[in-house]
Amino acid sequence: MDTVAPTVTKTMTSTNDTVKGNTVKNTKKVLLATMAAASMLALAACSGGSGDGGEGGGDGGLVGVAMPTKSSERWIQDGDAVKAQLEEQGFTVDLQYAEDDIPTQVSQIENMITKGAEALIIASIDGTTLSQVLQDAADADIPVIAYDRLIRDSENVDYYASFDNYVVGVQQATSLLNGLGLTDLEGEPAADAPKGPFNIELFAGSPDDNNATFFWNGAIDTLQPLIDDGTLVVKSGQTDFEQAATLRWDGEVAQERMENILTSTYSDGSQVNAILSPYDGLSRGIISALTDAGYTVGEGWPIISGQDAEIDSVKAINSGEQFSTIFKDTRQLAEVAVNMASAILNDEEVEVNNTEDYDNGVKVVPSYLLESQIVVKDNITDVLVDSGYWTEEEING
Ligand code: BGC
Repeated sequence: MDTVAPTVTKTMTSTNDTVKGNTVKNTKKVLLATMAAASMLALAACSGGSGDGGEGGGDGGLVGVAMPTKSSERWIQDGDAVKAQLEEQGFTVDLQYAEDDIPTQVSQIENMITKGAEALIIASIDGTTLSQVLQDAADADIPVIAYDRLIRDSENVDYYASFDNYVVGVQQATSLLNGLGLTDLEGEPAADAPKGPFNIELFAGSPDDNNATFFWNGAIDTLQPLIDDGTLVVKSGQTDFEQAATLRWDGEVAQERMENILTSTYSDGSQVNAILSPYDGLSRGIISALTDAGYTVGEGWPIISGQDAEIDSVKAINSGEQFSTIFKDTRQLAEVAVNMASAILNDEEVEVNNTEDYDNGVKVVPSYLLESQIVVKDNITDVLVDSGYWTEEEING
């Protein structure tokens, strides 16, 4: 039984002069990725912009950094890491958060252009709404790096720094299968796998975030064979992305949808056994709905996934409320984006490792994709504490 989508194999091309890096990946390799591999990537990313002088590429210019919201911890960590690393390289930084309000983000970016920013690093709220402001940036010769979320419908996006978002979805689904006892964490079938059937419900991210469909496709490609053979049953029947989507990644919206599903589908005494959640904030809303409906940890409590290794969710994994999260090291992502900006401003080669997968509707944006890792209770220390992302005190405090 092949429970892991085979389509993830990607061969990178290097036809573009500004492109280097030639990594052939496959799902298994990615799922087997170790901290060592992650660190090597970080080092590789590092080598892009710092040059041999070791002074960093900064010329003291202003770099505008637009982040979506402070309501999610990860973006605060991203913003802090990007700012600190840009400053280390000698840049001045204008860091802004838009509280998930699109007009606010547009005017923040306009403001950065007016202030004379030399480069823009943007994590968009809605990837389709920045075309005009990016035209203004292009008219002023300001390079633009899409940070974590691809900016769509604009030719004025120079580079994209992110994770392999399809693989993130594969990992989320694989962790659910592992939690149900069907596979190991690499997606290999378990020897004594239970037959099921297991009831599963599916949540997706915000439909205006390009990443949401990548996560969804990776997860569904992984789950579909088991849905097809009857091992997994989406009892609500809500199997379309549109039905599962959660506008603005809002945990309360997810909580309400979970409550509705529990009422409409599980009032007959049946239980939901697994829930695909693409983000820790949604998982927390889902957990509240389950608790309110009388579910208890340890007594038929479902397996729930997540993403971002937010501290409250790491605690929830420790206590058994959440089964897994996907760790995407924001420090590494910041490093990639900062090195891209620095390389562009210093007329150096920009390091990318994917020139195929991120078509924004107008062009394929050259990308550097990092690897993510599944976190479950057993490897919290290895992955999160040993890498310095969270301390034991933060997790247990
Ligand atoms: C990011 C995820 C995050 C989500 C909600 C996505 O674009 O890639 O890491 O969980 O947004 O903030």
